[in-house]
Amino acid sequence: MRRTEPIGVAVIGAGWAGERHAAAYRVRPQLARVVAVVDTNAAVAAARGHQWDASLATTDLDAALSRPDVQVVSVCLPNSLHIATALAALEAGKHVIIEQPFATSVEDADTLIRTAARVRRLAMVAEGSRFDPVYLQMADMILSDEIGAPYLVRIARDQHRHEMLRARSWSLTDAASGAMWNGGIHDIETLRMFTGGLAIQEVYATATRSNLPELEGDDTSVAVLRCEYGCVGTLSESYSAHTPSGLRVRAEVFGAHGAIATDGTGAITITTQDGERTVRVPSVDTYDAMVAHFLDCVSRGNEPATAAYGMRPGLFATLAAQTSMIFSAPIAPEPSSSF
Ligand SMILES: NC(=O)c1ccc[n+]([C@@H]2O[C@H](COP(=O)([O-])OP(=O)(O)OC[C@H]3O[C@@H](n4cnc5c(N)ncnc54)[C@H](O)[C@@H]3O)[C@@H](O)[C@H]2O)c1
Repeated sequence: MRRTEPIGVAVIGAGWAGERHAAAYRVRPQLARVVAVVDTNAAVAAARGHQWDASLATTDLDAALSRPDVQVVSVCLPNSLHIATALAALEAGKHVIIEQPFATSVEDADTLIRTAARVRRLAMVAEGSRFDPVYLQMADMILSDEIGAPYLVRIARDQHRHEMLRARSWSLTDAASGAMWNGGIHDIETLRMFTGGLAIQEVYATATRSNLPELEGDDTSVAVLRCEYGCVGTLSESYSAHTPSGLRVRAEVFGAHGAIATDGTGAITITTQDGERTVRVPSVDTYDAMVAHFLDCVSRGNEPATAAYGMRPGLFATLAAQTSMIFSAPIAPEPSSSF
């Protein structure tokens, strides 16, 4: 049954991502209300609390989680802080939506999933690629057999992020820092969309010489992913690549009868032996779509499209890429059927 009262929200971490979450809640006042804002930077918490009309702006997580008028929590913190906060929110009886990476180890991912199941609350991963209309349309085309079974997926994420990373000191030193953790994890999800969720059997990844010495993770890396049925994928992730707008993600998928590609500008090009055609897809704010879906799932009691359980294979492949970079060897991701 649908709720009649707006769902009370706590936004934990009031930086860039927190603002995006809050904006998506605030354009739906009938459905949601930001009740609490938590940030360890008291000035940030106070400013955002005022801006978002939240009745509580605090540095104290427990103060927000103990409020009965908070039903859902957006976890928008530095990567390695996600899991503890998400677990605390679930234990307090809240539904959670968690930024990527939603966990930084297999054990933490499974603890989150088990906890959500035990307390009967939703744990959704804020994975924007799953709500990107270009990727959704490409996946539809591929799965409706426009180009035949995919055998090669190439994704390249070029961004120049040195200033942004320096402005967020945590992102230089976080245990999950680097381009593969922060960009690759999304592109692995995109690859999984394009291949209809084929299992990723092995990942080989390597980083290039660093152009950003303060960054503990990789600033530029490539990965080769071997999937079921002889499909392979390549990812190229960079924080040091100049592009006209600062971010460009290009994705190409090849099948026996043709290819489907996007250049990151909202256009999809389909190439077959009959020629080439281009489809333009209206852009959508993926944060808005993602938060709308989360609220809908909370109010109806439905499983989200990006529930943490379904996001395990992408996380495990990202972890395999990290391990591969360390050992210079191909790594088989933790089997997702081991749960
Ligand atoms: N920046 C992006 O382009 C982007 C895009 C998508 C997803 N994300 C993800 O969103 C998450 C947050 O990234 P961001 O860019 O918003 O970072 P940010 O630095 O802008 O915001 C993080 C906020 O968390 C606060 N904070 C730190 N530790 C805290 C704690 N223990 N308790 C409460 N508040 C704390 C900081 O003061 C800061 O205001 C990351 O996981 C990131 O990967 C970021």
